[in-house]
Amino acid sequence: MEKLWSSILMFLLLIIRRNGLCQNFAESFHSHPQQEQQQHHYGDIGTDEPQFITKGHLYRAVVGDTIVLPCKVKNLGSYVLLWRRGAAVLTAQNLMVTRDARFKMIDGYNLQISNVRVTDAGDYVCQIGDVEPRDQVHTLEILVPPSVRSVPDHGIISARQGGTATLECKATGNPTPHIYWFRKTAKHSSMPLGEGPVLILEQVGRQHSGTYQCKAENGVREAAYADVNLKVLSPPELSTERQWIHASESCEIEIVCTLQSDMNTDVSWYQNSFMLEPTDRRTMYSRGNKYILSIVNFRTTDFGNYSCVADNSLGRTKKYIEVSGRPGPTEFLSSQYSSHLDRYNLTFKIESLPDLDEIKLLYRKLMINETYQRPGNWNELVLYPSVSRYDSRHFVMSYIITKLEHNSVYEVMVQAKNRYGWNEVSDIHQFHTRSYGYVNENMDFIINSISMTSSGSDIYRKKFIIIFICCQFLAAFLLSVIT
Ligand SMILES: *[C@@H]1O[C@H](CO)[C@@H](O)[C@H](O)[C@H]1NC(C)=O
Ligand SMILES: *[C@@H]1O[C@H](CO)[C@@H](O)[C@H](O)[C@H]1NC(C)=O
Ligand SMILES: *[C@@H]1O[C@H](CO)[C@@H](O)[C@H](O)[C@H]1NC(C)=O
Repeated sequence: MEKLWSSILMFLLLIIRRNGLCQNFAESFHSHPQQEQQQHHYGDIGTDEPQFITKGHLYRAVVGDTIVLPCKVKNLGSYVLLWRRGAAVLTAQNLMVTRDARFKMIDGYNLQISNVRVTDAGDYVCQIGDVEPRDQVHTLEILVPPSVRSVPDHGIISARQGGTATLECKATGNPTPHIYWFRKTAKHSSMPLGEGPVLILEQVGRQHSGTYQCKAENGVREAAYADVNLKVLSPPELSTERQWIHASESCEIEIVCTLQSDMNTDVSWYQNSFMLEPTDRRTMYSRGNKYILSIVNFRTTDFGNYSCVADNSLGRTKKYIEVSGRPGPTEFLSSQYSSHLDRYNLTFKIESLPDLDEIKLLYRKLMINETYQRPGNWNELVLYPSVSRYDSRHFVMSYIITKLEHNSVYEVMVQAKNRYGWNEVSDIHQFHTRSYGYVNENMDFIINSISMTSSGSDIYRKKFIIIFICCQFLAAFLLSVIT
């Protein structure tokens, strides 16, 4: 065994010394082991024998490109150089054997392939024809830019509300492209929603409806895109701007319902559970997703509980709108803080087309300290307002509640009546009377602005008041010093 190794080593040294092939050997150490062996072999034959100067290599080309596979040979002499692909001979010396016009010999024995195709991928052999063939192998890989399509091709996916939506894209290309998912409206710089050929969205809602985009990328040329349109099917959704509409005889009203639905949906109108048909005074129409019931020359029989009803194959939705002649809800306009010790100017606004006949005002004191809160008894006042219209649909009323206690919290409610009846009793409105010690007339304004900016925190309010009073004292002191 030892003898064999040492004789091989001796043999190699002999070759190097005789042929001065150091350079070629150094080169060949980096190349294919198979080729190394071949080089040794030629060395054995001698410098007059043909030798490859170039080395076998992996080449990459993009579909449609032109590529040159090199083959440089030293001492070719009378040997014939062939280019083969598998068993098929492409060229022999300078003779084109293949009929494919895309193949060409250039600059000696280099093989040029123009307009490369996917099918051109594989091993190409530059061979020196001899009893013992010697060859050099180049591998050609064809890169294919990405292309992508949605699955199914029409790109429309539907899912039920609350269910799972599966969006899919198929990409081809070499190397295999990566797929990323985006909302189409979103910028592509934003984070992808997912990666891979399938995007799964769980518990989908109407907000998930829209166009999605899959992006296929493999580093070869530009990325490719495909759209997938998701439709989330859900029972219809209705909304109304107002649940209560004020009307009066001979006026004109419009009841509006807004529909949200991605499916075919029917909208119909009811009055007190009777389905409505159009008449000469009543029309139904839609504008975009708004459904409108319009009534002109209003009559007392038109008062009632109306509803718009939307139906699709997944369900039915209803919205009620009351049309009434009674006054509308009360809106309080006065500040929560009285600037007086014993009085409060209560100002409120009520919607009513007919004049108001009577107003009921209920108020009570709250016994309140840090640990304890107990309401007093309601005081009831009945007012017969003089007509003071705010606009054609509203009244504004002011009433001074007197004989109040200072530094106290009160609650007040209002109810109004016109010729069609009483409205709902208003929500409770709270107000505070002033304490002794706060003399400034603007205090009401100041306290209000603090309670607006500091979200009503008592600590901030007290601190501010103390600072404010200190500043006033300081100003007065400075003034007296100067004069
Ligand atoms: C209208 O009628 C429906 C069904 O009877 C009822 O639930 C709803 O409270 C009524 N609305 C008004 C404002 O009367
Ligand atoms: C009560 O407040 C209203 C609205 O701020 C005002 O128009 C009215 O004059 C006040 N009434 C009295 C008596 O100060
Ligand atoms: C709060 O008021 C109740 C009833 O007036 C009284 O019993 C209690 O001592 C008061 N607590 C404080 C902390 O002032």
